[in-house]
Amino acid sequence: MTRTALITGASAGLGVEFANQLAASGNDLILVARRKDKLEDVAKSLRAKHGVAVTTASADLSNPRAPQELFEFTRSANLTVDYLINNAGSAGPHLLEEKAWAPQAKFLELMMLSVAHMCHHFIPPMRERGFGRVVNTSSFAGRLPRPDAGSHYGPSKAYVIALTEELDLTLRGTGVHASALCPGFTHTDFHETADLGEMKAALPNFVWYSAESVVRDGLRAVEKGQPIMISGRLYRWLDPLAQSLILRPLIKSFAPGRNKR
Ligand SMILES: NC(=O)c1ccc[n+]([C@@H]2O[C@H](COP(=O)([O-])OP(=O)(O)OC[C@H]3O[C@@H](n4cnc5c(N)ncnc54)[C@H](OP(=O)(O)O)[C@@H]3O)[C@@H](O)[C@H]2O)c1
Repeated sequence: MTRTALITGASAGLGVEFANQLAASGNDLILVARRKDKLEDVAKSLRAKHGVAVTTASADLSNPRAPQELFEFTRSANLTVDYLINNAGSAGPHLLEEKAWAPQAKFLELMMLSVAHMCHHFIPPMRERGFGRVVNTSSFAGRLPRPDAGSHYGPSKAYVIALTEELDLTLRGTGVHASALCPGFTHTDFHETADLGEMKAALPNFVWYSAESVVRDGLRAVEKGQPIMISGRLYRWLDPLAQSLILRPLIKSFAPGRNKR
């Protein structure tokens, strides 16, 4: 039986890799992002490589109407969504340094509300059919507060983890699985797009993982019904320390700026 995966943020990075791995398993695809030309390039190459049907839909998920419009688009095109990969995201503005509120609100819409909004539309039909797989791309940044990181990104990813854990509990026994994928530093366009190329170059190789391994972890986790997947051995090792009530304050105390208070 051919299933269909809707992937947001499918014009670059992890989204392209989700598309590639899901197409390699024989799934048809609906690719979503803002850049239509990039989506078409990905679609063309995956049709040729895997022989699957690929539909593209250009949408800006920082627009509050986008999830509903995407849902209506799939309905009108008779497309049934079996895999929902809420993956689109960006580094976003600094909560305190960016003076205007509008970019902050758009960022929160993209990172949190659009994820909940997509789940709101696409999960109930999955539950009715008794099958669905939902991967919400979060981040290891959602597991631990960081200083001087914009005060927005990590908290938005923490929301995605909380949302997904609760969905996982709500959906048990329905045939629908939900997993929050928490990658650490991953080789994609993310850091260049956010003008963080210098920071990227300064970090040691061992903290970086490939998009291929991160996506493999995410798809394996959702099949198994694992609500949170910390991707990468380094981050799986760090996570229990970050979550420990005793060790968390210790880890935070190593953060730069700790003596400024
Ligand atoms: N790379 C990392 O180190 C890392 C680590 C942890 C978590 N993550 C998370 O992984 C996810 C994927 O990021 P990536 O690393 O693959 O980065 P990327 O290569 O920059 O890809 C980001 C994707 O999101 C899409 N996107 C951005 N803003 C959008 C908007 N307003 N509406 C619709 N689509 C939008 C982009 O497409 P368009 O520009 O065409 O719209 C692109 O397809 C993100 O949620 C990110 O937070 C990344």
